[in-house]
Amino acid sequence: MVRFAEFFSGIGLVREAIEPLGWECVFANDIAPEKARMYTDRFGSNHLLVDDINRLTLSDLPDDLDLLTASFPCIDLSLAGNRRGLAGEHSGTVWPFLDLTADVVSNRTAPKALLLENVTGFVTSHGGRDLEEVCQRIGELGYLIDLVVVDAKWFTPQSRPRLFVVALRQDLVPCPLPPTDDVTRLRTAAIRSFQASHRGIAFFESSLPEPPQRAPKRLVDVLERVPANDESWWPEDRVNALRDAMHERHAFRIGELLLGKRDGVATMYRRVRRGRTVGELRSDTIAGCLRTANGGSSVQFLVDCRGDRPRIRPLTGLEYARLQGAGDFPINVGRRQAQSGFGDAVCVPAVSWLVDNAFGFLLQELPRSEPVQTRFADERLDPVAAGS
Ligand SMILES: C[S@@+](CC[C@H](N)C(=O)[O-])C[C@H]1O[C@@H](n2cnc3c(N)ncnc32)[C@H](O)[C@@H]1O
Repeated sequence: MVRFAEFFSGIGLVREAIEPLGWECVFANDIAPEKARMYTDRFGSNHLLVDDINRLTLSDLPDDLDLLTASFPCIDLSLAGNRRGLAGEHSGTVWPFLDLTADVVSNRTAPKALLLENVTGFVTSHGGRDLEEVCQRIGELGYLIDLVVVDAKWFTPQSRPRLFVVALRQDLVPCPLPPTDDVTRLRTAAIRSFQASHRGIAFFESSLPEPPQRAPKRLVDVLERVPANDESWWPEDRVNALRDAMHERHAFRIGELLLGKRDGVATMYRRVRRGRTVGELRSDTIAGCLRTANGGSSVQFLVDCRGDRPRIRPLTGLEYARLQGAGDFPINVGRRQAQSGFGDAVCVPAVSWLVDNAFGFLLQELPRSEPVQTRFADERLDPVAAGS
């Protein structure tokens, strides 16, 4: 078994994604007790440390870690957030994660791989300086770095593009391929532009296969049957008021759904435009990006036009789970809590696909009795000299 530590573990969907591949979770950390409850319901409390990452030290971590994962908070990096970037209190928690990683690298056997995840806005945050600092730091620790966007919509009916920083210890990539300038779904124009303007960073290109074109299911396939008398359905007058206030483009989409287009269903977010709350519908057969449900506008709604009139309700916890590819996950919390947990999590098959393809070869690596002693003690401050 190869062993991993999951930072910013939330409800544990990274673990959900990669444990079935043969990775053993030996440590998890998150600050939020309500997320920890969902995590514990699934995996038990072994290895889970509920604490602020700023308070963690090397002694909290077990030995022999092969992979460290960090899907750190996005609030300061996302368009919907405050754009403070890595100077922000939330997304800035990547720094204590990298400090801990540096402690592990310096004092123990360096993990074989690191995996960081965040919104795609990370590439351009503060003109690219945030990502540059993170990549430089990881490069100094002796890793080669690949940057990849993986979108949940290739696996589940949810639009959720996410940036992954894929880092492999240099000695495990004897002949690293340099990045090309090909723009693909995985390596977007923003990534290529970032790589081209940061030649000093120890980039490499992992040989990932072409990801699936689209998810095998549509939104309609993951919906629960919620009885017509369930109190989560909006009263008719509320639906009508929202419809009356809609921009005509979105009202038109409701008309199309009533005609049976796009399976008769769509998801909707409420937004405040010019001081008024309006509903905005997607125009395809997948859900919008789930978000943690900490504000009224963050909940995603279903607009169901499969009858003779539109009906609206929030998506259920199980629907959130299915959209993250975690339909089997136990949900013993209320809808709001489930929306928060799943909305903030990663898409299980997307992470599974990436880890399988980028790190799968590590499962066949040397047995632990013959650890690879890294050369990085002397060379980690100079990845170029180390042969990148
Ligand atoms: C994007 S979510 C990660 C979700 C997780 N990958 C999952 O599948 O549920 C970021 C997580 O960082 C946690 N977090 C925020 N600040 C933290 C801190 N100072 N120390 C530890 N965890 C923190 C949040 O509670 C949240 O669960």
